[in-house]
Amino acid sequence: MPKSHRIAVIPGDGIGPEVVDEALRVLERVASMHGFGIQPTRYPYGAEHYLKTREILPDAAFSEIRGHDAILLGAIGDPRLEIGLLEFGIIAKLRFDLDLFVNLRPVRLYAEHLCPLKDVKPEQVDFVVVRENTEDAYAGMRGFFKKGTPDEIATQEILFTRKGVERAVRYAFELARKRGKRKKLTLIDKANAIRAMDLWTRTFAEVGAEYPDIARDHQYIDAACMYVVREPAQYDTVVTSNMFGDIFTDLAAMIQGGLGIAASGNLHPGRVSLFEPIHGSAPKYTGRGVANPIATVMAVAMMLDYLGEGRAARHIEDAVADLLRSRRLPSLGTDSGFSTRKIGDLVIEALDQVSAPA
Ligand code: IPM
Ligand code: MN
Repeated sequence: MPKSHRIAVIPGDGIGPEVVDEALRVLERVASMHGFGIQPTRYPYGAEHYLKTREILPDAAFSEIRGHDAILLGAIGDPRLEIGLLEFGIIAKLRFDLDLFVNLRPVRLYAEHLCPLKDVKPEQVDFVVVRENTEDAYAGMRGFFKKGTPDEIATQEILFTRKGVERAVRYAFELARKRGKRKKLTLIDKANAIRAMDLWTRTFAEVGAEYPDIARDHQYIDAACMYVVREPAQYDTVVTSNMFGDIFTDLAAMIQGGLGIAASGNLHPGRVSLFEPIHGSAPKYTGRGVANPIATVMAVAMMLDYLGEGRAARHIEDAVADLLRSRRLPSLGTDSGFSTRKIGDLVIEALDQVSAPA
């Protein structure tokens, strides 16, 4: 019996369902080419479902979802609902309750013309960001006092735990070693102003002593935003906190061609993990069939790599790279002139054209 992977699919809101459909077609195709099976189970959670039923992500569904091998998510967020309701009820709930402590965000430029920076070559943009994914201001320790009055106070705690910081940092050192490229890990923080980040400084030094083969670098987040534009080639592996990672990876995504290609994996090594494009639900493009599904296709590639299907993952990556380099797909925006469906077709054709990796 060939191996079969059980995937929980949450297409979600806005353009989510459109891009997920194409990514699933690519997944089915690559699975049949590489001789493994896919058993997708679709879940309806998101804004439409909430408006109809008032359910966000029920406990029973959550338990069922966690029993899968991996989760594929489209996008969550709808302007008709209270800000953050579904983002926290679905995305953050999955991240926290499944303890997906690493948010892995690769930044790779596949074709020079996709980079908005002048004279930056593909070989100069190839790094990966390890964003801590379960702590920081995202932990939800917040409150309002005297809400709505002139004396209102609003607080939200930035919190870090030694265990939480250490596991993210350790994961990043291991990854820098596994990548085996520049063997360098850059810590991005703001320890000069947010003194609680001294915990990151100390943990990085202590864990780093166990990895003498990995060079350690450090930048403050404000400077890192400047350096990533000025000299992206300096990065190999980056580790940072939840909030800075959120911001830094949107900036980094632009350097690789924008949110049309940037994907992420929310991981707990050895457990069910979640894969998604970095972009959101893009309500203004919903239902127009113009959304680019490549970021979700790249999320599928990350998912396959995680599931031990490394060859199939590289096959997708090679196909997308070829499609972009040849300009058969000329841009990653909604102005490419191709429909969502057509881009799915192009990826599937490209899978046939590039040879499967060894
Ligand atoms: C992301 C998103 C989320 C985050 C939002 C939707 C809560 O921006 O995955 O980067 O801030 O983590
Ligand atoms: Mn974000």
